[in-house]
Amino acid sequence: MSIIYLIGMPGSGKSYWGKIWGEKYGFEVVDLDFNIERHAGVRISDIFFGMGENGFRSLEAAVLLETISAAREQNTIIVTGGGTPVFDGNLKTMRRTGLIVYFEATVPYLIKNLQNTPQAHRPLIGDASEENLSAMYQKRKGFYEQAHLKVCAEELHRDTFAEIQKACIEQR
Ligand code: S3P
Repeated sequence: MSIIYLIGMPGSGKSYWGKIWGEKYGFEVVDLDFNIERHAGVRISDIFFGMGENGFRSLEAAVLLETISAAREQNTIIVTGGGTPVFDGNLKTMRRTGLIVYFEATVPYLIKNLQNTPQAHRPLIGDASEENLSAMYQKRKGFYEQAHLKVCAEELHRDTFAEIQKACIEQR
């Protein structure tokens, strides 16, 4: 069984494509943010408010491990949060247990997408300004680049997942 992790900045399209590819290729799709909310019993924004970012990151690392254990039975796409690969050894864990696909995107593309989607689970994004997103991207880029595979978020289509699956088979 395979686990494929989708990583990248908020607004890069991880959830959108995860859902489409999962349906088309028969993969279970698990959204890490959704699992965190289920585990905590409150919304992401309330976790940040109550426990701060450090609290959220501890929870995120623990729920990632739980999610991986539950995913071992079937082919699964795990849609991660934008900060998941940057904290607590999550990147190492993901590299060890599956194939990591990085959705590379330009800041203007992120801004366009973030303007069209709900922001309740994104307390770190603020006003989604070019300045904020560029600073965040610069800090995270080095982690994202450690993925097994990089795809251009702006050029994805339904069949891109066939190439991802091929890379997954070659990696074994
Ligand atoms: C975060 C991104 C969010 C969510 C949380 C933290 C981040 O997920 O995990 O607000 O640090 O970039 P998305 O990538 O779906 O926005």
